[in-house]
Amino acid sequence: MLDIFSIILFILPPYIANAIPVLFGGGTPIDLGMSAWDGRRILGDGKTLRGLFAGILAGILTGYAEYTLLGRYELFIISVYSSCGAMFGDIVGSFIKRRMGMERGKPSFVMDQLLFIIFALVFSYATLAEYIPSVLFPESVLFILLLTYLMHRGMNIVANKLGLKKVPW
Ligand code: CTP
Ligand code: MG
Repeated sequence: MLDIFSIILFILPPYIANAIPVLFGGGTPIDLGMSAWDGRRILGDGKTLRGLFAGILAGILTGYAEYTLLGRYELFIISVYSSCGAMFGDIVGSFIKRRMGMERGKPSFVMDQLLFIIFALVFSYATLAEYIPSVLFPESVLFILLLTYLMHRGMNIVANKLGLKKVPW
């Protein structure tokens, strides 16, 4: 049986962390405009410091809200790891895309839609294993990946329709 409740508690902070930069991002890019050895931008203008910090903060606040509502302190701790993991995965994705010569905003299934949640899982693995091991069951991980793909598609289509994002992915 899938422990859907625990899965939702786990995914909310990294989902929020990943979504918030679209609204609050902008300004100084994380790579400060610098290029890598291949002459292309290290990360590109789509990864900004404000987006990074807003995302992590929003994710942690979500975890804090879960802790306050349910009195489970581990949910707050897990959110710290999962939010940082989500933003790290997003950055790794852009780094790989730039090295592959892909322009900012160009879609990549794995990089855009799955890497953030994979790193959220990796970063919070130890704490999850101790407090909510059901989230790490193979069927849970598969469910999380599938749900993430569907949600990410849906949200990007909405963001595109609202004019927040130039492309619907
Ligand atoms: N964003 C940000 N800072 C971040 C992540 C995202 O400011 N750390 C903002 C940027 O305005 C970005 C938008 O959120 O354009 C959408 O994020 P994303 O799809 O991850 O970036 P892309 O513009 O598609 O760039 P990339 O090709 O590098 O993924
Ligand atoms: Mg993108």
